Amino acid sequence: MFVSFEGLDGSGKSTQSELLRARLEADGQSVLITREPGGTELGEQIRDLVLHGDHVEPWAEALLYAAARAQHVEQVIRPALERGEWVVCDRYVDSSVAYQGVGRGLGLDRVLELNLAAVGGLVPDRTFLLLLDAADVAGRVGDQHDRLEREDEEFHRRVAAGYRELAERFPLRIVVLDGTRPPEEIAEEVHGALRVST
Ligand code: ADP
Ligand code: TYD
Repeated sequence: MFVSFEGLDGSGKSTQSELLRARLEADGQSVLITREPGGTELGEQIRDLVLHGDHVEPWAEALLYAAARAQHVEQVIRPALERGEWVVCDRYVDSSVAYQGVGRGLGLDRVLELNLAAVGGLVPDRTFLLLLDAADVAGRVGDQHDRLEREDEEFHRRVAAGYRELAERFPLRIVVLDGTRPPEEIAEEVHGALRVST
């Protein structure tokens, strides 16, 4: 099974990835946790270029994320799925669609198409979208901001709208969760949703 977590920075994706790992391992499953855009050496280098370098043009940004993702899928995600493991990914294709497609205005469909080509059509079996107001998120992220986190409120509002549009478009794959609830409560709902579907 391939599962991804999505949402704004600070929405609780890595917290939920770890809580899901613990629950799946308690069920006796092998779990690989990985994150976008890293997970491979090339991916980490690309992540550094995109997040900590100077200005990156929107299409360059979209293509760099897609390049990191192509490497990540072939070297990490697909092999783990073929070994029968669970793969839990902190951000995947939907992040590019929401941030570059809608946030940067490159177009939801164009960025989706680019990414589906980059990953050979591999989409998660289930995606959990953690929804939270920008104000709630602001209280959670610390003082260390990367290049995307420094974008203005309007940018993050567009990204949130992009995520909502994706959830409407793919209602069977994307499960929308209220990210303001206590972490353990959210984790129970995630685990329950996966148990039903396996
Ligand atoms: P992300 O991976 O989406 O950036 P994190 O999981 O790192 O988010 O969470 C960001 C911060 O918010 C952390 O300090 C974490 O402890 C806290 N946090 C995570 N989930 C919740 C929650 N459901 N309620 C309150 N605080 C949370
Ligand atoms: P990440 O390190 O996952 O942020 P966090 O753990 O704080 O949620 O991602 C860093 C930034 O990269 C984040 O602001 C979102 C952005 N991003 C994109 O714009 N497009 C993408 O395809 C991905 C994977 C991330």
